Amino acid sequence: MTDPRQTQRLSADEAGIAAAAELLRAGRLVALPTETVYGLAADASDDRAVASIYAAKERPSFNPLISHLPDVDAARRQGIFDAPALALAKAFWPGPLTLVVPASSGCTICSLARAGLDSVALRVPSHPVARAVLQAAGRPIAAPSANRSGRVSPTQAEHVLADLAGRIDAVLDAGPTAVGVESSIVACLGGAPRLLRPGGVPRAALEAAIGQALVIVEEGGAAPLAPGLLASHYAPRAAVRLDADAPRSSEAWLGFGPEPTGSARPALAFNLSPAGDLTEAAANLFAALRQLDDRGPKTIAVAPIPMHGLGEAINDRLRRAAAPR
Ligand code: TXA
Ligand code: MG
Repeated sequence: MTDPRQTQRLSADEAGIAAAAELLRAGRLVALPTETVYGLAADASDDRAVASIYAAKERPSFNPLISHLPDVDAARRQGIFDAPALALAKAFWPGPLTLVVPASSGCTICSLARAGLDSVALRVPSHPVARAVLQAAGRPIAAPSANRSGRVSPTQAEHVLADLAGRIDAVLDAGPTAVGVESSIVACLGGAPRLLRPGGVPRAALEAAIGQALVIVEEGGAAPLAPGLLASHYAPRAAVRLDADAPRSSEAWLGFGPEPTGSARPALAFNLSPAGDLTEAAANLFAALRQLDDRGPKTIAVAPIPMHGLGEAINDRLRRAAAPR
């Protein structure tokens, strides 16, 4: 559960835009209008702020999120654009298109927003209020649709409040959104560009801009692969042993809460949250997995994580990491 918060309703004027940007810079949650749907925005460079997005939405899994930038130059500092990505950015930004590209070496988008992947999803929205907030915030802003998990995407501030009042810090009300469906998502990761999600830009228009057909990949599609192998999920090289009481010899240890007594702390260990705080644990999860995995252990043993609050999403991700492959 998130702490109860007083949700302010900000108007889409200079003062409201400045207040929204200030809240975002302070790691708070603000629902922002975009031309597609209202997004639940947080500082994409702050794992803790991003963890609070999942908590507010009660999202049962950590999908990678879209990061929003005020212009093409800002987006190009976060990702590496190949020729098709550049052509698409030029044709449709600002607008309802998201590009998934390799993260740049200077990328400041945190690992939780990227779900631990080496790629980033970037979007330059066209809504003038969104752009003004992004400009003033001066950092990438992660924003999935501002609804509770499993509910429909909000196209008005009232929809946002119906789902999230008391769970977020503010909603910036700019009236109904124009497009009403989420952005189209195209992955440009070398090879043929792939359409990951149909959305606000019609496929034919995307294909015309790159002069080739898009490979169609269904979002969360039923690819005949172990979940841990799905391209959109980071999988450690190490085997993962869940619900472990304590590490066995030679295992790396991913702890949560107080460390087990009576066993020596292994050389390779990370505690997601010694205090047992699930939001802190979520914020650390992907960086911790990667840090342990980079040292090449055969197995990472993981302490039990409770199933309430963000624990459900943490356990979902860990089960995927542990899936046979
Ligand atoms: O219209 C929109 O795009 C709205 C507004 C608020 O901008 N935002 C939105 O964001 O729909 P979000 O975070 O819910 O979209 C997340 C989707 C994931 O489900 C996944 O399909 C894709 O973006 N995605 C993000 N990063 C990815 C990555 N690195 N690789 C593959 N897919 C990725
Ligand atoms: Mg959504």
